[in-house]
Amino acid sequence: MTGTVTPEQSSIDNLAKLREMRDKALQGGGTARIDAQHAKGKMTARERLSILLDEGSFQELGALATHQVTDFGMGRKRYPGDGVITGFGRINGRRVAVYAQDFTVLGGSFSQVQAQKINKLQDLALESGIPIIGLNDSGGARVQEGVRSLAAYGEVFQRNVEASGVIPQVSLIMGPCAGGAVYSPALTDFTIMVDQTSNMFLTGPEIVESVTGEQVTAEELGGAAVHTGRSGVAQFEAKTEIQALEMTKLLLSYLPANTSEDAPILVSDDSPDRMADELNTVVPTDDRIAYDMHRVLEDIFDTDSIMEVHAAFAPNVICAFARLDGRPVGVVANQPTVMSGVLDIDSSDKISRFIRICDVYSLPVLTFVDCPGYLPGVEQEYNGVIRHGAKIIYAYCQSTVPKITVVTRKAIGGSYVALGSRQMGADIAFAWPSAQIAVMGPDGAAKLLHGKAIKASNDPQAAEAEFVAEYRERFFNPYRAADLGQIDEVIEPRETRPRLIRALEVLQTKVVNTVPKKHGLFPV
Ligand code: HXC
Repeated sequence: MTGTVTPEQSSIDNLAKLREMRDKALQGGGTARIDAQHAKGKMTARERLSILLDEGSFQELGALATHQVTDFGMGRKRYPGDGVITGFGRINGRRVAVYAQDFTVLGGSFSQVQAQKINKLQDLALESGIPIIGLNDSGGARVQEGVRSLAAYGEVFQRNVEASGVIPQVSLIMGPCAGGAVYSPALTDFTIMVDQTSNMFLTGPEIVESVTGEQVTAEELGGAAVHTGRSGVAQFEAKTEIQALEMTKLLLSYLPANTSEDAPILVSDDSPDRMADELNTVVPTDDRIAYDMHRVLEDIFDTDSIMEVHAAFAPNVICAFARLDGRPVGVVANQPTVMSGVLDIDSSDKISRFIRICDVYSLPVLTFVDCPGYLPGVEQEYNGVIRHGAKIIYAYCQSTVPKITVVTRKAIGGSYVALGSRQMGADIAFAWPSAQIAVMGPDGAAKLLHGKAIKASNDPQAAEAEFVAEYRERFFNPYRAADLGQIDEVIEPRETRPRLIRALEVLQTKVVNTVPKKHGLFPV
């Protein structure tokens, strides 16, 4: 009969319609906008996902969702997916949830539909115990949706906080990220920014100028260099989008899928018994001369296994993920080449945040101490070095993961106590023979204890030198602390790697019982 549609024909039509709609979703905002995105040196959201995820692993959800808004001509601006691509995939075979804002669709602006799609993904990731990765590239709250888009941010923030401490959350900033949009990344565990093509700020350059009169470019106000170096808002700076995506994969390799699991242990071809002979001479005999702690760490940890976190922020300390005999660990170390490795406000933020991340993901914390103490100064005191410095103490005391400390040289005053001392929960404390563990340096002690006697003596210089020599002999070494049991063992620097590996083997079954409470009051 003419005009009758057979069941077969109906199925073919249905499939054709689905394929057409899917095709449309794949086109995002269309060729011209994709070209404009490329012209800015940026990839499209789908191109980014194809690099991030294992080939063929992406399973999209919500590809056909569109908004129902009609204000300001929005009825004519409907795009399947509504400017964000959401779904699941695998990275190096491990499951992840991922969303990527599509700037080619209405500037990636954040809508109620975007929030619904991201919320669903956040819920599924949390319930399934897998990491969630957000690729941000958006003009912020969609203006045409008014308060709906503002409320939508709240829905994302709420879930960011619920997932915090349960699953890894990683934010990549790959374009603009303005207004309230910055707070979702700020609530996640890690933020990675791309140099020159990404910005984060609460208010852009025009508003800044109109309110404060300051003239800045978007890059100067909130580019990757600013946030990875100055503000500490972002932990990683990538030179290119591809590098940012590769960094994400590397970062996840150190972390478990959730806080109930352990991070993957890789097979290492670096011998656990390897001695690092160069370390026996790395610390200069003159304690005013610096040495590079990066070199020390590279000699101790598995070959090419170190990934520094917050490298450009507070470089007077080093925080890094690394591996020892294939097992991921967190490393905290002073860097003597920058401000003598002193502790200040920014380094307190950096260390305490990192320790809490290690603790929540069950990564042992290994601390390498060469620090003259907390930084003195009016500016530091006025800006609250006491409450910021307290964060380090709180983080060490609160953490229950295995903790091993190695004093390489100075552990003087506050730095001895704050940086992983036995009394604050270190399970094992080693010291190198070059360690100097005391309340203060010899010159300060000479002035404090014998200042008047030195001045009154016939030869003040000789009197001071005599006191300093005696102080160094008695106190300025690791042996008094070892004698008192505050250092468990003084070791040759060359044997640090095997010592740490053996100690971690013992501590891997460490259990700590904590008093139940709602939560402590972490100093902020
Ligand atoms: C709706 C938006 C938009 C937005 C961009 N577009 N941002 N549409 N709402 N927030 C649209 C543009 O109108 C344009 O559409 C297309 O996206 C591309 O934008 P362009 O401006 O042409 O791109 P570009 O020159 O690259 O500039 C990018 C930009 C700029 C710097 C991000 O678009 C911009 O300043 N946007 C507004 C940023 C902002 O202030 N957002 C609100 C933050 S307040 P057409 O069709 O014309 O090409 C906020 C509050 C949240 O987010 C609070 C939560 C707690």
